[in-house]
Amino acid sequence: ASALRLGVAGLGTVGASLVRLLTKNGAALARKCGRPVVLTAVSARDRTRDRGVDLSGFTWFDDPVELARSGEIDVFVELIGGASGPAEASVRAAIASGKHVVTANKALLARHGVELAGLAERAGVSLNYEAAVAGGIPIVKTLREAMAGNSVARVYGILNGTCNYILTRMEREGLSFAECLADAQRLGYAEADPTFDIEGNDTAHKLALLTSLAFGCKISADDIYLEGITSITTADIRAADELGYRIKLLGVAQKTDSGIEQRVHPTMVPKSSAIARIDGVLNAVAVDGDFVGEIVLVGPGAGGDATASSVASDIADIARGDVAPALGSPSDELVDYTRAGMRRH
Ligand code: HSE
Repeated sequence: ASALRLGVAGLGTVGASLVRLLTKNGAALARKCGRPVVLTAVSARDRTRDRGVDLSGFTWFDDPVELARSGEIDVFVELIGGASGPAEASVRAAIASGKHVVTANKALLARHGVELAGLAERAGVSLNYEAAVAGGIPIVKTLREAMAGNSVARVYGILNGTCNYILTRMEREGLSFAECLADAQRLGYAEADPTFDIEGNDTAHKLALLTSLAFGCKISADDIYLEGITSITTADIRAADELGYRIKLLGVAQKTDSGIEQRVHPTMVPKSSAIARIDGVLNAVAVDGDFVGEIVLVGPGAGGDATASSVASDIADIARGDVAPALGSPSDELVDYTRAGMRRH
C-alpha cells in the first residue's frame, strides 16, 4: 500500500515527542496499519532550537499554512495550540486542500469544533482529536466506539494534569501553589499560558468536547459553570483532609430533567473513592452507560510522550481508513448551570 505522509506543525513538547515516537515505533505502527507511515515535513517558528530530535531529513516550512497546503503530505498534524491564529488558519487550509487533520488542540475545537468537523465531513477527510482530551487516555475512542451502544447519563473526571499535579503535591509535601505550578511547567504539563490550566478553562474545553461526544449536543465551553483552583490553599487541603476528603478539580457533564448540566470546580471527594486516589499528572474519566454501567479510564493526562501516544492512535486510524464521524449535532439542550461553590461529589 502507498505510504501515508505526515506533516507536523508545532514542534513543542508534544511535537518533539511525536517525532521520537515515529522514529522508535514507526515501523511497528506501519505493520499494524498495513502501510508505511512516514513523517515528511515539519513547521515551527524556530528552526535552530535543539529539541533533542534529528529533524534534518524533513522538509521545513516556516508557515504552517504552506505546510497544510503542501502536496508533500496526506495528513496535517496540528500541534501549535491556541483557539485561533496559525492553528485555526492552518487546519482550515488543510481541510480545504483535502488533507486529513489530527489535532491535540482542545481550545480550537471547543470554539470551532462543530464547524471544522462539518467542513472535514464535506471534504471527505478525517478530523481526529484523541489527544485533545485527557492526554494519553483513549476517551474519545471509548465514547465513539466502545460506548456506541449505550445512552450516557454522566461523564466526569479529572481532566487537567497540571491541576491534579499541583493539588497532589500541595497535599503530600505541603509545597506552595507557585512552587508546584513552576514544576508542572518545567515538566511540560502546563499550557503555554498556565492560566488556562489553573483557572479551569482547559478542563472546560475538554469537558465541552466530552459532552458533545457523550450526549450528541453542541460544543459549548461558554455554558459551563467554571471555577479553577487558584484560591485553594494548603489550609483548605488540610481542612478537607481532617473531614475525610481530598480536593480535586472535576469536570462534570450529566443529564438532568432540564438538559445537560456542565460544570468545572474544585470538589471534595471522599478519600475512600477511586477518584481521590488519582495522583499527580494522572487523569481519570468516568462514563456511566445505561447498558455497560460505569467505566473508568485512568492514565497520564499531560506530558509530551503520553499526548503523542494519542496523536499516533489518530494517525493509525487514518492509515487504516477509518473515517471519523462529525462532532456533535444539536439534539440535547444544554442548561445554563450557575450554582456556585464547592460541594461533595
Ligand atoms: N495542560 C494540560 C494539562 C495538558 O495539564 O492537562 C493536557 O491537555
